[in-house]
Amino acid sequence: MRENAESFHLAVIMDGNGRWAKGRGLPRLMGHRAGVEALKRIVEACPRQGIDYLTVYAFSTENWRRPSQEVRGLMGLLGEYIDRELERLRENGVRIRVLGDLAPLAPALAAKIRQSVAATAANRRLTLSLALNYGGRQEILRAARALAARALAGEDPAAWREDDVAAALDTAGMPDPDLLIRTGGDLRVSNFLLWQIAYTEIWTTASFWPDFSEAELGEALLSFRGRQRRFGGV
Ligand code: FPP
Repeated sequence: MRENAESFHLAVIMDGNGRWAKGRGLPRLMGHRAGVEALKRIVEACPRQGIDYLTVYAFSTENWRRPSQEVRGLMGLLGEYIDRELERLRENGVRIRVLGDLAPLAPALAAKIRQSVAATAANRRLTLSLALNYGGRQEILRAARALAARALAGEDPAAWREDDVAAALDTAGMPDPDLLIRTGGDLRVSNFLLWQIAYTEIWTTASFWPDFSEAELGEALLSFRGRQRRFGGV
């Protein structure tokens, strides 16, 4: 589904914060803190680079397995990010969306996130989707449950199309990502946007996320523009 066929959607797996910190003899949380600074830079760069949708993997359903101190630290950073940046995001025309299930988050943090979504709902310059407690398989499972409920209520599943599934996902109404960037050198999708990246171009870099710059984003976009997207055709 596309709100606007001309819009550009960038998805990012922001990997390498821990290794960035380790290389400097710093605690992992300092890497995540530097990662937030990188995120701020890229959010500012997006409108300049012609990007309308930015979707970032901030916390996966698997990240709960990390030491509780790191999980607490990441949640703290998220709250801090909203407290410090919301006004600026609002002024800059950024709409915040959330992908994932906020239910397991601390109620005060979940409320703060929901408020930031509501406060920016009318903005259109850039849609910043934060994938929080997000997993692609879990998202598809939630969509399947919602569709099953509709079938039980009498709808005929035989009449459904791919768009009906897309509309039941957390990304409802957004175009699929055009480009997926993964920093940190690994070549994996890591349960991110599984349905949505069916035809997405992928670009990876060994740079750790805190080092990712607008210049490197420009390199990725240049590489993207040089590719021919055939969507299964010839
Ligand atoms: C991966 O690095 C990164 C994460 C698990 C979290 C990404 C989070 C941020 C950039 C900051 C928090 C986000 C917001 C929106 C405030 P890693 O720890 O897996 O790095 P490693 O692979 O080097 O260990």
